[in-house]
Amino acid sequence: MSDPRVCVVTGSSAGIGAATARLFASKGWRVVINYSRDPAPAQEVADACQALGAEAMMVKCNVASDEACRALADEVEKRWGRVDVLVNNAGTTRFVDIKNLDGLSAEDFHSIYDVNVIGAYQMTRALLPMLKRHPVTGVVNVSSIASMMGTGSSIAYMASKGALNAMTFGLARALGPDVRVNAIAPGLVDSAWLRTGLGAERFDASVKSYKSRSALAQVIDPEDIARTAWYLGVEATKTTGEVLLVDAGLRITRA
Ligand SMILES: NC(=O)c1ccc[n+]([C@@H]2O[C@H](COP(=O)([O-])OP(=O)(O)OC[C@H]3O[C@@H](n4cnc5c(N)ncnc54)[C@H](OP(=O)(O)O)[C@@H]3O)[C@@H](O)[C@H]2O)c1
Repeated sequence: MSDPRVCVVTGSSAGIGAATARLFASKGWRVVINYSRDPAPAQEVADACQALGAEAMMVKCNVASDEACRALADEVEKRWGRVDVLVNNAGTTRFVDIKNLDGLSAEDFHSIYDVNVIGAYQMTRALLPMLKRHPVTGVVNVSSIASMMGTGSSIAYMASKGALNAMTFGLARALGPDVRVNAIAPGLVDSAWLRTGLGAERFDASVKSYKSRSALAQVIDPEDIARTAWYLGVEATKTTGEVLLVDAGLRITRA
């Protein structure tokens, strides 16, 4: 019998990444739990995956560091020797009002790009030898509706996710036919990202406003994005170079 398949999920100590790691674990996959700061929540996710009967390894790695991405790849190579799906989910932002052009510096753009764009590139490159070993494998980049709508936490963030979409198209062409590369563009997801970034009061107001404008009158749960990552990473074997919007119908709006 062949070894269980392996999924690496960057930024998987919370929110969308944690839900994705748990979903792959529930399907019997080995999962790599990645975080850059606090190991405690990552340990909880790893424990949850193990409770589902899966093997999980935790790796501290700031995806903005190429050295750290290569070290993560080395650890996975030594322990399991394969990667079948990579979910580039780690992301960062600064919350700056769209009209406040002076609120963003060049350094803000650089630090957001370092994680959201270059981090995804570096991690894909570091894991490529393993991704090519058992084709057809999948890379799933977690983008954002912000890349299409001019909404979101800041213009630097929107621009970074637009660049991530463009990179998805380029990598899909570069890595075919062995590796598929797709992206998910979530709408408002109920996770710590916006709860912390906006504060409780503004978060509640945003949820209310989102529900009143979206065709499905809902916000998104991390588990919704996890299921889409599973679909694009595993099931969508003839899809590459796609950015799939998961927004409960915000773009088409409510009639
Ligand atoms: N929430 C939304 O409404 C929403 C909407 C559209 C798109 N997204 C995208 O979805 C992704 C995940 O968001 P979320 O809502 O799940 O956020 P979250 O709950 O804040 O979780 C973020 C995760 O990323 C990790 N992380 C942050 N910077 C990292 C780095 N440099 N290297 C490695 N890991 C890092 C965090 O762990 P540490 O703190 O330990 O680093 C944490 O595990 C992001 O790419 C975000 O842009 C979110």
